[in-house]
Order: sequence, then structure tokens, then C-alpha cells
Amino acid sequence: MDSNNSTSRRKFLALAATAAAIPVANAIGFEYSQPSQSQLGAGRVAIVTGSSRGIGAATARRLALDGYAVTVNYLTNKDMASRIVEDIKAAGGRAIFRQADVADPKAVKALFDATMEAFGGVDVVVSNAGIMNTGLFAEMADDAFDRMIATNIKGSFNVLREASRRTRDGGRIISLSSSIIQMKPAGAGAYAASKAAQEMYAGVLAKELSGRRISVNAIAPGAVDTDLLRSKGTTEQLQGAAAMTPYGRLGKPEDIANIISLLCSEKGEWVNGQLIYANGGIV
Ligand SMILES: NC(=O)c1ccc[n+]([C@@H]2O[C@H](COP(=O)([O-])OP(=O)(O)OC[C@H]3O[C@@H](n4cnc5c(N)ncnc54)[C@H](OP(=O)(O)O)[C@@H]3O)[C@@H](O)[C@H]2O)c1
Repeated sequence: MDSNNSTSRRKFLALAATAAAIPVANAIGFEYSQPSQSQLGAGRVAIVTGSSRGIGAATARRLALDGYAVTVNYLTNKDMASRIVEDIKAAGGRAIFRQADVADPKAVKALFDATMEAFGGVDVVVSNAGIMNTGLFAEMADDAFDRMIATNIKGSFNVLREASRRTRDGGRIISLSSSIIQMKPAGAGAYAASKAAQEMYAGVLAKELSGRRISVNAIAPGAVDTDLLRSKGTTEQLQGAAAMTPYGRLGKPEDIANIISLLCSEKGEWVNGQLIYANGGIV
């Protein structure tokens, strides 16, 4: 085959792959953007904590679209987790859902056990489950502080500890930080501190996993349009946050899921031990 023919054939195959992928993306409710060959996770397995809603749900859908078998995790919203798994399966993917409170080390271990049993291993772990309790220092209640630290700092530690024990060589571990650690608004002290911890986790764990080609990174989204954000802001405040970005909009869960997908691709390998801001330019 001469080089012109071979180029045309490659273009044709790329077009055919896109045509096939768009309906699949629509079927599982993901806003499609074309993956490169190296993003495809065929035969690989991902766990996404807190994936019944928001950024985690979009990430589970995105990774399923990339070819990963996915474990969807939730705390209380079983129906939403089940729906995501149904959508993925209906589009020809593989997925299970499991309840686990990330703050409970035994539950996290069971989450990994269930994944190993269903799919035979773990290649990607996204420590996404998190809550945001805000309040001025003078007004923050102990129980709101304690629950957030248990989920965001201890919970993420539980997930990353299990990930460090079980992720196969060549895998990816990603934790959700927040751009709020740069913005430092009043009332966000405890939340921002819990998210700043994720940068330390990523930097240290990346070194601890030396020699195994497992990258560990933290992603710091800006304001993303999810329940977490909507529960804390009035419509005017959300519009204000949108206006602060150069794009004039809030982030979508898919914006963050796409970055996670990129990091999980072979092309993402050299990014390791980093905190990556993904906020449309808000900071
Ligand atoms: N949205 C933003 O603007 C933004 C910005 C920066 C960073 N982040 C970070 O991104 C992550 C996801 O945020 P989001 O906005 O997508 O949140 P969200 O829409 O409120 O969804 C939170 C998810 O976490 C799960 N969850 C909560 N506590 C859990 C626990 N103890 N164990 C297991 N799962 C738990 C929830 O499960 P149920 O549905 O069962 O409750 C849900 O699936 C968080 O770590 C957050 O800090 C968000």
C-alpha cells in the first residue's frame, strides 16, 4: 500500500471510529469528545469513589467510554449509582456499583475486594468522594468540621492507601483537590485545608510507588456545576463565579472527567506527583 492510500485508510478508520463512538456516548449520557487510541482503557479497570453524582459520575461515564470496566461508588444514593451502571451496561460497557463510606477503612477495603472479584484487578483509582462544609472560623461547628475531615482527609487517605496496595503496575491514581486552595475565600478555611492535603498525598505517594510506572496526581477544579456547589451558593453567587472565569461559565463535570481521562491515557504518563489546576482560568 502506498503512503497516500495508507493515509486515506487511517483517516477513514478514524472517521469510522468517531461515527461509532458518538451514539455510544449519547447512550450513556456523556458529552462526546474524540479519544485518541492511547486513551482507550480496554481490558483495564477503574474505581471512582463518589460516582453516583457530579464529577465522579461524569468520570465513571467517561472512563467507561474509554473502555474501562468501572466500579461506581456511592454513600446513600443507590438509585443514582445503579442508573449510571445501567447506562454503561446498555452501551456495551462493564460496571458494578457498591456502597462504601470512604471514611471507613473496612468499607474501602471491601470496595476494592468487590472490584477485584468482578473484574480481576485495578488499574485506575479516582479518589473523588468529598463534601464541602463551609463556615467562618468563628462559626464552624465541630461536627461539620469532623465529618468533612473524616471524608476528605481520612477518607481520601483510606482510598489512596488501598490504591497503593492494589493498583497494577502502569496504573493511575488521581485525587480531587480544589482551586479554592488558591482563592482562599472567607468561610472556606476547613474545606480548603482538606483539599490542600490532596496535593501532599499525590506528591508523596508518587515517590513511594517508584519503579512501578504508576502516576499519582491531584486535580484542582474551579467552580463546577454540581450539587456540592449548588447547595452552597445562591443563583447570584453561581452567576458571579461563572463571570469570574475567562470563558464566562461554570465548569461542567465533563470538563474534569476529560482531564482525568487524559491523565489515564499513555500520553499522560509523564505527569506525576503534580497538582493540576483545571478551572477555565478562574485562578
Ligand atoms: N463541584 C465543585 O465546584 C468542586 C470544585 C473543586 C473540587 N471539587 C471536589 O470534587 C469532588 C466531587 O465533587 P462534586 O461537586 O461532584 O460533589 P457532589 O455532586 O456533591 O457528589 C459527591 C459524591 O460523593 C459521594 N460521597 C459523599 N460522601 C461520601 C462518602 N463518605 N463516601 C463515599 N462517597 C461519598 C456522594 O455519594 P451520594 O450520592 O451517595 O451522596 C456523591 O457521589 C469532591 O471531592 C469535591 O471536593 C468539587
